[in-house]
Amino acid sequence: MTNLLVTGGCGFIGSNYVRMVLEREPETRVINLDALTYAGNPANLKDCETNPHYRMVVGDIADRSAVEKVFAENKPDEVVHFAAESHVDRSILDSSPFIRTNVQGTQVLLDVSRACGVKRYVQVSTDEVYGSLGDTGFFTEETPLAPNSPYAASKAASDLLVRAYVHTHKFPAIITRCSNNYGPYQFPEKLIPLFISNLQADQPVPVYGDGMQVRDWIHVLDHCRGIHAALRGGKPGGVYNFGGRCEKANIDLTKTLLGLLGKPESLIRYVADRPGHDRRYAIDCDYAERELGWRPATRFEEGLRATVEWYRQNRAWVEEIKSGAYRQYYQAQYGHRGL
Ligand code: NAD
Ligand code: DAU
Repeated sequence: MTNLLVTGGCGFIGSNYVRMVLEREPETRVINLDALTYAGNPANLKDCETNPHYRMVVGDIADRSAVEKVFAENKPDEVVHFAAESHVDRSILDSSPFIRTNVQGTQVLLDVSRACGVKRYVQVSTDEVYGSLGDTGFFTEETPLAPNSPYAASKAASDLLVRAYVHTHKFPAIITRCSNNYGPYQFPEKLIPLFISNLQADQPVPVYGDGMQVRDWIHVLDHCRGIHAALRGGKPGGVYNFGGRCEKANIDLTKTLLGLLGKPESLIRYVADRPGHDRRYAIDCDYAERELGWRPATRFEEGLRATVEWYRQNRAWVEEIKSGAYRQYYQAQYGHRGL
């Protein structure tokens, strides 16, 4: 039996990852350490709660004694670190929680993982650490780090800490950097779920600036498969970029969503731009394809259609977030209100 500690497993990507591992690997025990911030929703893994190989622990990765206790009780062989403050707009309003969780939390996790002899550690990072591209070119693993938002800076700082622990302590860590994910269980503050849920309610959708910013979209399960391939087959000290080879301008994506939901373009509202808004992200994932035998498999049109359908069938999930009722679930199940 392998003990796999996942941090941030109640968030969007973490919950998809935990479910995927439990389905694929009956010989793996998954321990999910999550502080249940506003972005963490244990209902995302409700279907896994009765799985004897799944355990949820409420705790803050920046709290060293809490993390030491989790490690002592669960003896993880492997760590996949998702837990983070993840929303760029929130980091512009207040960067403090980003430094605490993304930088200090990563430092604690690295220290405790190292002290406990963890054999493999994956730092789930982002293409935003590379900054912004012009109209041409792609981010590779060699692109210099040039983060532009406080969120991206906090992720770059944690990547550099990981790099230093690999170099100094020979700690067996791997860094993955992925482009924009979409799919089920994404918190409705991010573009795709926000726009879907607004449109379902015939509410306008706020397009920042001229809407010509470009993002490279990947289905969350393709990202999860990549992370797992890196965990099991990546080189310690390695960096792997994942992307969907699927660049879309925000306004084009918005119009596609309007079409899928059968809503009029009059619901588009151009609003003030995000300060420091990165213009374009695009990932060159040749290296991960070659080294890990991984490939993004979901066609965007199919993945987006399925995502819209998921949000159609799970309107109660969105409503509970929008009304705040999902936080009562914490209280009832875990006796905890979250950070
Ligand atoms: P999310 O915001 O949906 O989830 C974050 C999770 O971390 C939540 O469950 C939250 O409760 C938990 N968390 C936050 N602070 C914590 C703390 N101090 N201790 C323990 N748990 C804490 O995020 P996401 O979109 O699922 O992103 C997961 C990871 O993937 C992040 O590290 C993010 O930087 C990275 N990433 C995201 C994307 C994307 O498109 N969403 C792309 C590339 C990389
Ligand atoms: O690239 C990976 C990153 O993708 C991850 O590291 C982040 O955690 C994740 O949040 C995401 O960052 P973005 O800032 O690209 O995602 P977001 O969904 O916030 O915005 C996508 C694009 O849409 C971006 O250009 C800003 C724009 N946007 C966003 C929102 C929420 C709008 O035009 N209107 C909106 O209301």
